[in-house]
Formats: sequence, C-alpha cells, structure tokens
Amino acid sequence: MSEPQRHKTSSAPRTEGVKYVGSKLRLIPHIMHLVEPLGAQTALDAFSGTTRVAQAFAQCGLHTHANDLAVWSEVFGNCYLIANKPEAYYLELIDHLNAQPGHEGWFTQHYGGLPHEHKKPFQAHNTMKIDAIREEIDRLDLEWTDRCVLLTSLMLAMNAVDNTLGHFAAYLSEWAPRSYRSLTLTLPRKFRITTHNRVSRADALEAVSQYHDLAYLDPPYGSNNAKMPPSRVRYAAYYHLWKTLVLNDRPTTFGKAVRRTDSSDKDTASRFEDFRSDDEGQPLALKAIDQLIAATNARHVVLSYSSGGRADKDDLIDILKQNGKLLQALEIDHRRNVMASMTWTGHWANSKAAHKEYLFLLERS
Ligand SMILES: C[S@@+](CC[C@H](N)C(=O)[O-])C[C@H]1O[C@@H](n2cnc3c(N)ncnc32)[C@H](O)[C@@H]1O
Repeated sequence: MSEPQRHKTSSAPRTEGVKYVGSKLRLIPHIMHLVEPLGAQTALDAFSGTTRVAQAFAQCGLHTHANDLAVWSEVFGNCYLIANKPEAYYLELIDHLNAQPGHEGWFTQHYGGLPHEHKKPFQAHNTMKIDAIREEIDRLDLEWTDRCVLLTSLMLAMNAVDNTLGHFAAYLSEWAPRSYRSLTLTLPRKFRITTHNRVSRADALEAVSQYHDLAYLDPPYGSNNAKMPPSRVRYAAYYHLWKTLVLNDRPTTFGKAVRRTDSSDKDTASRFEDFRSDDEGQPLALKAIDQLIAATNARHVVLSYSSGGRADKDDLIDILKQNGKLLQALEIDHRRNVMASMTWTGHWANSKAAHKEYLFLLERS
C-alpha cells in the first residue's frame, strides 16, 4: 500500500482567476505532476471555467485549447491565452476606465445596496463604477480579444469587492469587509504567450472529438445530496451575473438573488448537470461522463472528480477501464496537501479525509 505523499507546490506556474466553485487552483501542482512526463504537445481543457488549468498548460509550453459552455470562461480564455498586445496598450485603456465617473444604471438598480440594506452582492458605490465602466467598454472600438482583457479586469475587480461566498446564488446578510473597498481595475496577470492556443464555447462532447495529445476533463460534480434543487448546483445559476456582465444585455430577472430568467430550473443547460437518475437508478450525469470518455480523441486523458459529486469513484474507474489503461488514480486531500495512489486492489491508501479530489490518468486504447 502506498504511503500518502506531500507534494511540492512551488514549481507550478502561477495562474489567476475569480472565486469559482470547483476551481482547480490547488490541484494544479498535482495535475502538472501527472501531465509533465507524458510529452504531450497539444492539450485540451474541456471544462475550462476560470481557465486556470489552461493557463498552467500554456505556461508549460503546451499548445492549449480552452473550452467551456460559459461565455465568461471564453472571456478569460481570450484574455490569458490569446490577447497579445503590449502591456502598455491595456494599461492605458484600464487607466481610462478607472477615470470614468460612476453613475446609477442597470447594475446599480439590480445589484447595488446601501450600507443599511442587506443581501446584495455589491455596495452601490461600486455598482455605480461597474455601470460606468461596462458602458464605456462597449463604447470603445476594440477587437473582441482586447475587450476580453478589459472584461476580465472588471470581473477580477468585482471579485475583490463582492459580498458573496464565491457565487451569485445567494448574498451575505452582513456586508463583507472587502465590499467597502473601492472597485479599481488592474492589469490581469498575463504571461508571455509562446504557444498556439485556441478558445471555444462548445459542448465538451463536441470539443473532445477533435484530436489533442492530452485531454483534461473537469466536469461539473453537482451534489450527491439528491434533495438539493438543481438550480443550486448549476454553473449558469451560480454565475448568472458574469454572463450578464459580459453580454450587457439587461435580461429579465427573478427571485431573491435577482438571477437571469434563462438561469432558472426550466432551462437545463448541460447534460453533465442533469442530476436526475434513470429508471435503474443510474445518475444521468454519470452516463454523460461515460459518453464523454468514449468520445475523447486523445492519447492521454486526465479526469478530475470530487468526493461530493453525483458520480461514484468506483463507477468512474469502471468507465475509464473500458476505454484504455488506467495509469494512475490519485486521491488528494488538498486542505492537508496530501496525495495517495490507489492500490490495485481497489483500496485507497488515504481515505479518511472528508472531502477528496480524484485525478485519474488514462492512456487511450
Ligand atoms: C468543475 S468546473 C471547471 C473548473 C475549472 N477546471 C477551473 O479550474 O476553474 C465545470 C465547468 O464545466 C462547465 N460546463 C458545464 N457543462 C458543460 C458542457 N456540457 N460543456 C462544456 N462545459 C460545460 C461549467 O461552465 C464549468 O465552468
């Protein structure tokens, strides 16, 4: 039985992103440890979210394709992986945006709160700046990739002064200390782009059909609590405000969290977020993962999963083994930075931790 190991985290490339449920920030050193010996040249991050993993791939010299259904992820991908103008160009635009006088507009009316008001995602002094800056970004005549740098800068600035626990499905009742700070744009931490990268906004099932040496799959986990309403665990519901900010489309809204109407339970966005089971009790999300692995056109596949998710790790292992050779199965308790390998008898050397992350490395047959 293998002993739990401590991993050095200092060697992983630095990445940047907003607070995001399921962000792999702390798993990046483990992912890179798995991926580096494979000698891959092209990599897909099929559910890229914040794009932190894609940012790490590109900084390690992989030609990187970031894909996610969410429009805000496409914006992050364009900012970090594609936009390539000199720093001074973006800094001048950011200074110009910071100088815009705030005023009350759509974001203030829907998401701004005064100090005595409760359960709003931002204080009104900041939503007034958001209104002014967002309108000005649309007035500037910019290429889409450069616009993505400014939108990323705005999302990072909002993330630094929000009144949330990391998503927009509910807001804190007491103002968080950071919400009193004044929103200020800064230059996103862009690294020098040396690889040929791509960004897409497709269903993962479509993205995996194109060949990459390596495919990294980090699908939504949902919750294994069957009583949880689906809207509580869907990315479109959690991050509706990022979509509205990017599109600036002033959508109709509903409910206490003032969500976009198109983020309601009636709109099932993704087969990986269908948390119902079929007649035999098989979770539909697991079937979607089965279909995804079978469709993945890559030499190596790394699958991420979490112990709180809808699918069971043993089912995932069965699916993986039907599609090639399972080279590694890691269980990570990232709060303690402890990793264990699965023994081939199926037991986990380190299985006492309450919340665990799994990483599976598959060589496709
Ligand atoms: C666990 S998160 C990925 C987190 C990401 N690895 C990170 O570090 O930020 C899952 C992502 O899957 C995306 N998603 C959900 N259904 C999808 C689908 N059918 N195709 C592509 N992306 C999808 C969500 O928008 C979400 O960003």
